Amino acid sequence: MIYLKTPEEIETMRSASTLVSQTLGEVARWIEPGVTTRKLDAVAREFIMDNGGKPACLGYEGFPGTLCIEVNEYVVHGFPSDRVLVDGDIIGIDTVVEKDGFMGDSCYTFAVGTVSPEKTALCRTTRESLYVGIEAAKPGARIGDISNAIQTYCEQRNYSIVREMTGHGIGRKMHEAPEVPNYGRRGIGTRLQNGMCICIEPMVNMGSRNVVIEADGWQCRTRDRKPSAHYEHTIAVVNDKVEVLTTFDYIHQAITDKFI
Ligand code: MF3
Ligand code: CO
Repeated sequence: MIYLKTPEEIETMRSASTLVSQTLGEVARWIEPGVTTRKLDAVAREFIMDNGGKPACLGYEGFPGTLCIEVNEYVVHGFPSDRVLVDGDIIGIDTVVEKDGFMGDSCYTFAVGTVSPEKTALCRTTRESLYVGIEAAKPGARIGDISNAIQTYCEQRNYSIVREMTGHGIGRKMHEAPEVPNYGRRGIGTRLQNGMCICIEPMVNMGSRNVVIEADGWQCRTRDRKPSAHYEHTIAVVNDKVEVLTTFDYIHQAITDKFI
């Protein structure tokens, strides 16, 4: 069952999406060697609550943080902890904010200090593949067109696509129908139509596509322990156009500010 949103509901989705984008921008200011992921989590929780939102991951099916923390080989759903970030890490920060009853979901993978050219290239390709997916998400296109565009872009560059986790519909709940896989055939799946809100979120590995979920039932990492990258936007179809409701502008501003 796909819940189509009214234009008014999409405005609320936009406000939740802006807040989640600003939250990632705030967290970006704190990312540096020596900081713990628990500190980043506290910064995010406080920022969300100070701005009239609710940290939707915290307590979701027992999840123990505001942020999903994805250092190096971690793919999704890592826990905030006393782990200290070190120079050369990459860290994906994935979070969902609820505002006025609707959800915004976004993820960005950051470099900690100076990162190897291989990790930088993985992050660049993954980020680019998100926009390639968004470009394929034209009204009237099908979910499979998005999936295939992302898969083709990444596999042509010799990266592999995680299959166990997918993007998803979003609205009053963080996960709604339809699923949005990052691999698959063109021309299959649900047709995009006005009122649909979905999250596109490529999870891309440097080595093999295989992942394992640790004994806690949450934390997901690559089986070969090679790095993985992850980026995510929430998008909506409105007036026969696709609008990206989240933005990385706050992150890019925060990163620029560090150098001036
Ligand atoms: N963006 C993540 C997802 O879609 C958010 C997960 S929140 C958690 O899976 F609580 F489930 F971790
Ligand atoms: Co998501």
